[in-house]
Amino acid sequence: MQSARMTEKTWEHLCTIRSNGAVFHHSTSHLDRPCLSLYEPIARPNGSFVMAQVGQSLDGRIATPTGDAQDVSGCDGIAHLHRCRALVDAVIVGVGTIVADNPSLSVRAVNGQSPVRVVVDCNGRIPSDAKMLHDGGTPVLVIQADDISRSPISCDVIRLPRRGEGLHPQDILDALSNRSLTSVLVEGGARTIARFLDADLVDRLHVSVAPIIIGSGPMGISLAPVDRLADARRPNVTVYDIGTDIVFDCDFNTAAEVLEASQEGQHILMPNPA
Ligand SMILES: NC(=O)c1ccc[n+]([C@@H]2O[C@H](COP(=O)([O-])OP(=O)(O)OC[C@H]3O[C@@H](n4cnc5c(N)ncnc54)[C@H](OP(=O)(O)O)[C@@H]3O)[C@@H](O)[C@H]2O)c1
Repeated sequence: MQSARMTEKTWEHLCTIRSNGAVFHHSTSHLDRPCLSLYEPIARPNGSFVMAQVGQSLDGRIATPTGDAQDVSGCDGIAHLHRCRALVDAVIVGVGTIVADNPSLSVRAVNGQSPVRVVVDCNGRIPSDAKMLHDGGTPVLVIQADDISRSPISCDVIRLPRRGEGLHPQDILDALSNRSLTSVLVEGGARTIARFLDADLVDRLHVSVAPIIIGSGPMGISLAPVDRLADARRPNVTVYDIGTDIVFDCDFNTAAEVLEASQEGQHILMPNPA
């Protein structure tokens, strides 16, 4: 596990990369190495980049059964989430999160630019008085199915065709890319993240674990069941101690290579505990 402690200079460096695409420093030796390896892939995406982030308890919960999700992450977990927001073009949430939390999705815990806010709202459930529609912050895009009547909301609405059980995440990414929004953070909730993971569209997943046990309540990630552990996803994971929380940085692109190699018998996926 690497200890990542953000310094002012390291964050400045990452924000410069994010705005310029490159940075011409004589040396980066004075910067925090673990922070660079955790955040540089987000700040310097190569074309389209999709990350997801879940802030959860030790027992994998993201809220209480009544929906209280305010303080699951510790203060460093919250700063981490806000850094991720500041490094992407757009942050995506499902309408369930708007209804439950009424978030603003802005960058407040660190210095940085707030991303465009995107709500996936297939059936037009977003409340017209949702905070983000009236707070004068960065633009809000609501994505709805093209077969429902137009919602009376004061923001841009993108209308996409239904495919299967809803909107296909690739169609969502294409619509955002047409607006030059190519690096995105899928922030939740579980159902929205699951759609992107199931479509194999997530490059990085950050699971930020706080030392709290909630006991019951919604889980952060909820995918279709698998019968055998051999069918479970095995991303390449690097673990960071960020202070109050631990971040598991899951790289799904590298995992594909490991899986390929294992098919040739070069890797053992699951050691036998016996
Ligand atoms: N701790 C954290 O990191 C964190 C972060 C965010 C949210 N949360 C918590 O998560 C909970 C909400 O999560 P959730 O899973 O219930 O809801 P959600 O993922 O926020 O929203 C799910 C809804 O969004 C719409 N949707 C999303 N993707 C879609 C797609 N590809 N196609 C069609 N519709 C799509 C659907 O709306 P329709 O049902 O109208 O079709 C779906 O039911 C809240 O308790 C919130 O506090 C926690």
